[in-house]
Amino acid sequence: MQVVETVSDVRRIRRELAGSWGLVPTMGYLHAGHLSLVERARAENDRVGVSIFVNPTQFGPNEDLESYPRDLERDLSLLRELGVDLVWTPFVEEMYPPGFQTYVTVEEVTRPLEGAARPGHFRGVTTVVAKLFNVFQPDRAYFGQKDAQQAIVIQRMVKDLNFPLEIVVCPTVREPDGLAMSSRNVYLTPEQRAAAPVLYRSLCAARNAWVAGEHDGERLRRIMRSILDAEPLAQTEYVSAADPQTLEELGDASQGVLLSMAVRIGKARLIDNILLTPDQ
Ligand code: PAJ
Repeated sequence: MQVVETVSDVRRIRRELAGSWGLVPTMGYLHAGHLSLVERARAENDRVGVSIFVNPTQFGPNEDLESYPRDLERDLSLLRELGVDLVWTPFVEEMYPPGFQTYVTVEEVTRPLEGAARPGHFRGVTTVVAKLFNVFQPDRAYFGQKDAQQAIVIQRMVKDLNFPLEIVVCPTVREPDGLAMSSRNVYLTPEQRAAAPVLYRSLCAARNAWVAGEHDGERLRRIMRSILDAEPLAQTEYVSAADPQTLEELGDASQGVLLSMAVRIGKARLIDNILLTPDQ
């Protein structure tokens, strides 16, 4: 496994190692969710590249850029075990050299949900992911359903800007009690950690209602909110029952729905979602 810091090293190794390439973009502090993407990439490509970069442009001024957890040595040993070929760990100045002033902006689908709660977030995500695609030139890139809106936004960008690659979206990996794995779960105290499965519980309650025939979007949102409200350590930022393509809030959810939420528990801001499609 080669570990490099510069754009020119990535380009050189990309040229030297023949075959199809899969790319897994990450911000590091890897957990089983990230590793499931790497395993999928390993199974579907001759070569696997992983980027580890805590991307400053996708963090707001009052967010956790400085405190975002990091453990590069541990990350590298996990990736080595999975047979990754190339890891790129750029410095901020390599990604954003002095004079940098070009950004990629996806419009409508970045406005609601995370886009409304975190202004500028998706502009940072799409810009860094476009750069990763240009440097690695992968045949496939792997993203998690955990960040549902991010996956939709990146699929839109790839289509609109004709990036010659396939986006593969992989299922959310959860702890045994249902909490979606996230690097940010380390912010939770033991008491808060015990409360955190409330997100998945509320999603499951709405899913069960939907499967039983409750297709009214407003009532689905109310089901999720009432379960979150019953947990004193949880502060709900939003709950959503949205169109899985446009992310607009639905009145009639009978044709499929993306149920999602953002909830603060202590210092952690947790997001989770379930996608329901008519064939379920
Ligand atoms: P990060 O939060 O490190 O996540 C990297 C990838 O892992 C994303 O595609 C995310 O959706 C996926 N992932 C995270 N938790 C997961 C889980 N529990 N199950 C399955 N997949 C999971 O997302 C980012 O980094 C950044 O925004 C990035 C795309 C790297 C751009 O900076």
